[in-house]
Amino acid sequence: MAIRPILTAPDPRLKAVSTAVKKVDGEIRKLAQDMADSMYAADGIGLAAVQIGVPSRVIVMDLDQKDGKKDWRVFINPKILWASDELATYEEGCLSVPEIYDDVERPARIRAEYLDLDGKRVEIEADGMLATCLQHEMDHLEGVLFIDHLSKLKRAMLLKKLTKAKKAIAG
Ligand code: NI
Repeated sequence: MAIRPILTAPDPRLKAVSTAVKKVDGEIRKLAQDMADSMYAADGIGLAAVQIGVPSRVIVMDLDQKDGKKDWRVFINPKILWASDELATYEEGCLSVPEIYDDVERPARIRAEYLDLDGKRVEIEADGMLATCLQHEMDHLEGVLFIDHLSKLKRAMLLKKLTKAKKAIAG
């Protein structure tokens, strides 16, 4: 078990475009385990590898953590195959954008493919929280944060707030 520090905006490393996993091997399984440990330690429901400074296309997620049950899943090299025209709005947050929550509009339903921890190709249809969360995490793989979906003015304001909070901690 290894808990790794989570990068927070405006860290430039969060802007990296993650590269595809070539082979799902022991190293990737270890990375996924570290990501899950880090996610639980930070009370998150999803995490992309780039958030712990590893720009690799790996996502872990656990949307249902009732009663301390840990049942995380991993999405390697995820790709959206189809997205609905219908949109849904959820209030999103992010471990890399601490203490900021805002409404983001995204396709309500998606069909996606990815590799599991055995390197097997899986196809899923998702709606609700899972659809939103997957799209949020897949944005991370492109160096995009949920605040990038907000207006320029709002984003600038939030980033200023984050930088101030960081300076306060550092100082
Ligand atoms: Ni996030």
